[in-house]
Amino acid sequence: MKTGTISIVGVGSVGAAIAYASMIRGLVRRLVLVDKDSTKARGEALDLGHCSPFVPAVEVEAGPLEAIAGSDVVVVTAGAKQKPGQSRLELAAENVNLFRTLIPQIAAYAPDARLLIVSNPVDVLTYAALRFSGLPPRQVVGSGTVLDTARFRHLIARRIKVSPGNVHAHIVGEHGDSEIGLFSSAMVGGVPLLEFKVDGHHSLTEAERAEIFDATRRAAGEIIAAKGATNWAIGLTTARILEAYLRDENAVLTVSRLLENYAGSGDVCMSVPSIVARDGVGPALSVALSEAEAAGLRRSAAAIRDVITRVGLE
Ligand SMILES: NC(=O)c1ccc[n+]([C@@H]2O[C@H](COP(=O)([O-])OP(=O)(O)OC[C@H]3O[C@@H](n4cnc5c(N)ncnc54)[C@H](O)[C@@H]3O)[C@@H](O)[C@H]2O)c1
Repeated sequence: MKTGTISIVGVGSVGAAIAYASMIRGLVRRLVLVDKDSTKARGEALDLGHCSPFVPAVEVEAGPLEAIAGSDVVVVTAGAKQKPGQSRLELAAENVNLFRTLIPQIAAYAPDARLLIVSNPVDVLTYAALRFSGLPPRQVVGSGTVLDTARFRHLIARRIKVSPGNVHAHIVGEHGDSEIGLFSSAMVGGVPLLEFKVDGHHSLTEAERAEIFDATRRAAGEIIAAKGATNWAIGLTTARILEAYLRDENAVLTVSRLLENYAGSGDVCMSVPSIVARDGVGPALSVALSEAEAAGLRRSAAAIRDVITRVGLE
């Protein structure tokens, strides 16, 4: 297995979960933690470092932003979370402003690193990171709907009583309200999901599919209402994307990436199934879309572009 140096900029609840998941999966040889609250970053580095007897060899250190030099991947989770009463647009404007100064510094210290954006709204911030870094599009992705896709597969799998590993189904578009669940191309062990017989007799009804998709889309809100933030699943999701880079996997993942012309949408970062390997994000797959899915994807792209324009990214 290939390992390397991963830096995490922003070591709040999400950054710490990413660090922990990456260590447990034995992905990383050196982990660099950076936070504007340097005391907190130092505390997390000390705490995580004490896991070392139980995980494959890893060095964990906290440092200033300069310490990211030489990283294979820089993960960015720095930024505000949506506050009660704050609109998504206001959050976008706040975090785009943060990226305006942070991203050029990251690109200057680690010009060869892949950038993996996790901060929200992730599609707009991935676009901002591309603009502010000047890095080639294949080097900059967002975690996008990899997490939503995991939730979708989990919920389908539970309903049809098949292991999630055997459910191939994607959430595409925005990581947010306008995302789309691709039921028409979903497969279960080689059988189209729309034809799959649950308990050997009936296929999922439209109402059951709507319920699964709705639960997927509402999942983040439900968790935030219950515990204030989401962190464990995004931690492992991000570790999964890091794994695809570090093991040069050519894995198909729904990362958020620049799309120039995809099913009628362009100049936007959003999620479609894409090949991820050591040198970054490769081709987007041309998934067959139903008419409703294609229209949904165009609407999702338009929703992201609207925010990009309104926060002055053009
Ligand atoms: N993409 C996803 O699926 C997903 C899932 C969950 C959370 N998120 C997003 O991840 C982000 C972080 O969430 P969290 O729960 O960890 O928040 P948090 O408040 O716990 O952590 C954010 C951290 O960023 C640090 N920070 C702020 N500005 C910085 C800077 N300039 N340099 C270095 N560090 C800086 C803060 O000190 C803090 O420790 C939020 O934007 C949240 O919405 C994304």
